[in-house]
Amino acid sequence: MCGIVGYCGYRRTAQVLLEGLKRLEYRGYDSAGICIQSTAGALDVVKRTGKISNLQNAVQEGAEGACGIGHTRWATHGEVNESNAHPHNDAADEFSVVHNGIIENYLQLKQGLEAEGTVFRSTTDSEVIAHLVAKNYRDSLEQAVRDTLFLLKGTYGIAVISSREPGRIIGARNGSPLVIGVGDNEMFLASDVTAVLAYTRQAVYLNDGEMVSITDKEFTTLDLHDRIIQKQIELIDWELEQIERQGYKHFMEKEIHEQPESIYRAFQGRLNTETAAAHLGGLNMTLQELRQVERIRVIAAGTSYHAGMIGCTLLEQIARIPSYAELSSEVRYRNPVIEPNSLYIAVSQSGETADTLYALRELKRKGAKVLGMCNVVGSTIARESDGGVYLHSGPEIAVASTKAFTSQLSVFYLLSLMFARMKHCSMEDGLKFISALQEVYDQIRDILGRASDIRDIAKKYSHYRHMLFLGRGKTFPVALEGALKLKEISYIHAEGYSAAEIKHGPIALIDEHTPSVVLVPDDFLRDKVISNMKEVKARKGKIFAVAVEGDREVQDIADDVFFVPKAWEHIYPLLMVVPLQLFSYYCALELGCDVDRPRNLAKSVTVE
Ligand code: F6R
Repeated sequence: MCGIVGYCGYRRTAQVLLEGLKRLEYRGYDSAGICIQSTAGALDVVKRTGKISNLQNAVQEGAEGACGIGHTRWATHGEVNESNAHPHNDAADEFSVVHNGIIENYLQLKQGLEAEGTVFRSTTDSEVIAHLVAKNYRDSLEQAVRDTLFLLKGTYGIAVISSREPGRIIGARNGSPLVIGVGDNEMFLASDVTAVLAYTRQAVYLNDGEMVSITDKEFTTLDLHDRIIQKQIELIDWELEQIERQGYKHFMEKEIHEQPESIYRAFQGRLNTETAAAHLGGLNMTLQELRQVERIRVIAAGTSYHAGMIGCTLLEQIARIPSYAELSSEVRYRNPVIEPNSLYIAVSQSGETADTLYALRELKRKGAKVLGMCNVVGSTIARESDGGVYLHSGPEIAVASTKAFTSQLSVFYLLSLMFARMKHCSMEDGLKFISALQEVYDQIRDILGRASDIRDIAKKYSHYRHMLFLGRGKTFPVALEGALKLKEISYIHAEGYSAAEIKHGPIALIDEHTPSVVLVPDDFLRDKVISNMKEVKARKGKIFAVAVEGDREVQDIADDVFFVPKAWEHIYPLLMVVPLQLFSYYCALELGCDVDRPRNLAKSVTVE
């Protein structure tokens, strides 16, 4: 998804911008550009399609300037080419703009400008902003941007510079994140704090409807009526090396291997053996309010939705609260009825997913209480929720989500324990629950220690063009997640099903060319899954089973098996997803795919 970086300061502007854009690569992009403003004021724009390295090669050695803005574009309006890449300038090249989001009324605005003689150089929605700022300029860049914002409908995070005001960047936000990085005699602006972490740990987050005026010495935050807003500087505690690869071939591999630690961080300080309960600090709900919760609704997209599906089963089975997960993209337009004593949870790694954010807003508009479960601190969903729980997974850079998924499950365990202990769950059972959770780190370490077994299995399967992923009960969403992971990074067509459903249709696909990945936990549905495996084998379907250690029967039926350690039955979704993450990773590696940046995908999907 698009990314923004802006810089005012004493360093080499081009270098800071390019470095920042590189840090944003993980979000997904198809072209990139920068605009450097020379100390005399002139604006110099360089854009390239493809990787940041293409842009880097095109930027003049030693390009200097008073300030500059940069952008990575993920095409929404207009094809991928240099003219559509940002920054966009006005006709006289006096104003330069980078924009994240979508201007919904751009056609109408464009037609108006064209009628006045403006010639457009791109087919983007964003270019109108540059022309409108130029047209509206009377006495300051800040005033010109503000007047323009009143004309725009849609979402934006923008950064604007002008040859008329060297050394100043104006930023504004509505629906697309923007953060100010505060330094000594230098200031940064970015859509994502990772872009500036190499230079500063002090950040100020803009809210929707806010603007900022930045010079190297100071920043001023304002509302759209020119009133100054005092904002708090927050300290970012993510280490830069946390977002580098640390010797792993890919971020995805690194993030899979980080899971014992990231799960530990999700539990840290939240499990209490004195009370045999879980304590979550940020919910902003009294004990009485929590006890009054009669149903839980989870809203999320993609991998987070799969975590939500499992979470709802856990909440229902462990805490006995009726719970249901729904795709956030569907909730928004369904005109949902908010039942009394319902608690909504918006689950999102990035905290910026438009579908989930808009669903959250719609639910809140209708009076719902919505908690956020996010990884990115200070993200929009985290800030707009009534309360919430952070995942503390650390930055997730690979486009395919792995460690955030297991941290989401971890937080659902905590919520289940918390609610269960407020109701029927005994101290004894609470303690058993806690010790089952505390065994997870070593169980996952054990699985990761045998990653090479999965690599060998992946070698045998990566040439297939289609695969089915089958699971039941709590492992059904794990099958969905396994299929999603495989298709997004290896481009192998994969479908996840409840193992029980195959006889209702998908079994027609099974033959020697379509293998199945089957999840077989040792819960009460195990025997039924074994029957489903036999149905697959009877049709010459090859099987890679993920089963529980010691299950000889599965070994006899399946062509390949990976065993996870024996655990409490509710823990299997967490354990069984790890071999599937590794399986998709190694299949993609075998096929030579760009694992961390799969085609057409973006890390943070900030458009509907
Ligand atoms: C899959 C993946 C996506 C995200 C989805 C929601 O690996 O990463 O399916 O899970 O776009 O993103 P968040 O969790 O940031 O709301």
